[in-house]
Amino acid sequence: MPKDFFWGNSVSSMQTEGAWNIDGKGLSVYDVRPATEQTSDWHDAIDEYHRYDEDLDLMQAMHMNMYRIQVSWSRVIPDGDGEINEAGLAFYDRLVDGMLKRGITPMICLYHFDMPLALAKNENGFMSRHTVDAFVRFGKIVIDHFADRVKYWITFNEHNLYFTDEVFNISGYTQGAKTVDDLYTIFHHTMLAHAQLDAYVHGKYADVKFGGMVAATPVYPATSKPNDVLAAQQIDQFLYQNLNEAFVQGHYDHQVLTYIKDHDIDYDHQAGDDEILAGMHADFLSFSYYQTTTINADKLPADEMAPNYYLNYGGEANRFLATNEWGWAIDPTGFRTLITDLYNRYQVPVFPIENGIGIREHWDGEHQIEDDLRIQYHAEHIKAMKDAMFIDGAKVLGYLGWGLIDIPSSHADIEKRYGMVYVNRSNHDLKDLKRVPKKSFYWLQTVLSKNGDEL
Ligand code: BG6
Repeated sequence: MPKDFFWGNSVSSMQTEGAWNIDGKGLSVYDVRPATEQTSDWHDAIDEYHRYDEDLDLMQAMHMNMYRIQVSWSRVIPDGDGEINEAGLAFYDRLVDGMLKRGITPMICLYHFDMPLALAKNENGFMSRHTVDAFVRFGKIVIDHFADRVKYWITFNEHNLYFTDEVFNISGYTQGAKTVDDLYTIFHHTMLAHAQLDAYVHGKYADVKFGGMVAATPVYPATSKPNDVLAAQQIDQFLYQNLNEAFVQGHYDHQVLTYIKDHDIDYDHQAGDDEILAGMHADFLSFSYYQTTTINADKLPADEMAPNYYLNYGGEANRFLATNEWGWAIDPTGFRTLITDLYNRYQVPVFPIENGIGIREHWDGEHQIEDDLRIQYHAEHIKAMKDAMFIDGAKVLGYLGWGLIDIPSSHADIEKRYGMVYVNRSNHDLKDLKRVPKKSFYWLQTVLSKNGDEL
């Protein structure tokens, strides 16, 4: 493996930090999301705000050399567009300096679904151009503050989710009829925000790398029926390649633009927007990868529907793949195909920055958790990535696992664990939050001590 290859861990702030109302942090939409019987709230997460030294020590012990964190907008600018909270920035100073001290390269993500509550209520989140301006201001403040120490940046976690109906949960959208026009408007606004920060970074900091990030869930046609193949092509183009093309080439692709025109979609496209989009120039294409999915065109309703919604109706299980308890298909070959395809298409370095498997686990307070399935999952995915690199010739910057110290999953359920370190809490009982290495911790330690050359 290349000597400068990045191996590491990746998280969001709301799933990790806790300290939701400490040191001047403002509220985000996630801070007011109530707990349910099955899920916790987000208030404590794994309390990394106070335990970051211990967590960084564990990452260092695994020989990781990168940690992707998120800088929470409402921690740095409590209401999203007003005063700066210096205590919030100071926390990230401590975290970043702690990484650098241990030889861990930081990557910063600027938005992971947690809109400041004030902007959600007053501006309807990213429906408003005011929110775009506020985000660009926030991004510039954070970039200027950290650019001397942080050289890898992304804006929106899983940016293509802003082109699916998930957008209404993750963009601060609180009022409206959730129309296709609204969906495309929010997507366009977030792309304008990304493009402005991309141009800002590249104009000011020659040594800083800035990239796009998508949730890569490649779609297989359910059969070789031409309609299944066509549906898979359309999803691929609308939900992935449209974004990757934009990140690299600075414009939306013609298939999506033709759809917009033919269906009179009002996506708040204004004079000057195309020039802003043209500022995009990704240094790398990053993505999360957990699974592949499958589309059956026969299940799609007869009425004409935006391809953005196909998977809601036409998705089905792939009988050739095993799944975890949550039905997520385990597919290392899909990982290789994806990496190879992305690099072939764009010839820009690719960067898997989230990968892993959710497993229900229980610690008895004494014995090590034997997570052989997790070891197998990561070993097979790393092997597939190496095949993409050394057989197919793809350039890959690194491999980051998701939540390698347990964190609550995105629906705030700590029982779906991804970690190689167990965190001792349940949904409603914080217990002692003790960090306990699992079997996979020692496996990864050995693998990374040899830079991934032996699995
Ligand atoms: C990614 C998100 O889609 O998947 C994370 O960026 C999320 O926030 C992760 O936690 C795993 O999904 P889940 O639902 O299993 O937590």
